Amino acid sequence: MADRPLKVVILAAGKSTRMKSDTPKVLHKLAGLPVLQWVLEQGDSMGALESIVVIGHEGDRVQDKFKHRINTRFVTQEPQLGTGHAVMQAKDALANFDGDVAVLCGDVPLIKNRTLELFRHMHRSEEASCTILTALPQDPRGYGRIVRDGLGRVRRIVEQKDLEPKQEDIPEVNTGTYLFDCKKLLGVLDKLSTDNAQGEYYLTDVVELLADANNRVTACACDDDREVMGINNRKQLATADGIARERILDDLMVEQGVTVYEPATTYVEAGCKIGRDTVIYPNSVIRAGVEIGEHCEIGPFAHLRPGTKLGNRCKVGAFVETKNAVYGDGSKSGHLAYLGDVTLGKDVNIGAGSIVANYDGQKKHHTEVGDNAFIGCGTVLVAPVKVGNNAQTGANTVVPHNKDVPDNTIVVGAPARVLKSR
Ligand code: UD1
Ligand code: CA
Repeated sequence: MADRPLKVVILAAGKSTRMKSDTPKVLHKLAGLPVLQWVLEQGDSMGALESIVVIGHEGDRVQDKFKHRINTRFVTQEPQLGTGHAVMQAKDALANFDGDVAVLCGDVPLIKNRTLELFRHMHRSEEASCTILTALPQDPRGYGRIVRDGLGRVRRIVEQKDLEPKQEDIPEVNTGTYLFDCKKLLGVLDKLSTDNAQGEYYLTDVVELLADANNRVTACACDDDREVMGINNRKQLATADGIARERILDDLMVEQGVTVYEPATTYVEAGCKIGRDTVIYPNSVIRAGVEIGEHCEIGPFAHLRPGTKLGNRCKVGAFVETKNAVYGDGSKSGHLAYLGDVTLGKDVNIGAGSIVANYDGQKKHHTEVGDNAFIGCGTVLVAPVKVGNNAQTGANTVVPHNKDVPDNTIVVGAPARVLKSR
């Protein structure tokens, strides 16, 4: 079966009324990354030639966030008259395209690549004009329902608000994810009407239009309804966030060889790299994109913020916060410290209670600490400053900005003065 070329349309123009937020829902963070990024990556995993993102409500903010992505086009829907109307805005971008179109919901971020692969395979093997990704959730309320005829063929989708009483029990729901033959989709899009409970152009009505014209419409049921949940309110955002982070921890433990003693209190966001035999103790927070080498020890109660990169055999212990902090191999900060905008060489020891003061009230500055340096308890390094290789600070030393500590030198006091060489 030859692979047909694919374009993706992502619906992300809605007002997100139920989020009650100043921020469009597709920019809310899910395990540290914007919800829309997850959906864009779904399109990438399907091998899309181009992703067409329909934006509207706060569209400039959405476009701004993703303007550097390749093969991504933004089209504006103004006003927002429904999901069918949203897809109409992509008509020019799809004109004359001889291939398939996947329509993805900007608020359905957790579909696994494997599921999308099966979905696409089914669409092609059935030679369907439209394949709907469906699910059988415990509670189907709120979703559009799949109506089949006596022979089990998909006839149409009925939205929750348009359900007749006897349709309430239909267990199979629309996940808002579809594959279409592009030409067939464009052929019926203009026939949509707003004759429904919400007075909107429903994309879901395309299904009935295609089926009535004797086109093959099929459904591919996803067996894990947690993958296809939509995020419409903050409670669903929290649920989805929990699912995403559980997957991240499962991958770390099962595939990457990372020890996580208490997954329930270990918060790891997306896009982190953590090396094998690293151990993470409870109540630790590791933010998006953090990199940790092998044989490191994290926590309990550590907070590793974005830009943190640890080499091998490093330690970030209890009540230590790091941000843009790069640790060379073997460097340790065991207890009660803040390290912001700092590069540590190899085998540096940061004493308890030490602070790298990176912010002068206006700007952030960078600090460097050389190999084998020993930073005494309660030291404050006021950025920008350099501490040399094998240098040492006494307890409660304050190293003022630009007063670099030479290699092999011990400094003490506030402000720091040279005591002797080390
Ligand atoms: C939609 C489906 C429903 C399905 C559910 C799955 C329709 C009519 N209903 O309902 O069958 O079970 O998703 O999650 O399609 N959007 C626009 N422009 C608009 C309206 C919406 O771009 O004018 C976007 C939204 O930003 C959102 C997506 O389309 O990302 C879905 O819209 P939403 O209002 O959440 O639809 P649901 O009511 O969840
Ligand atoms: Ca939704």
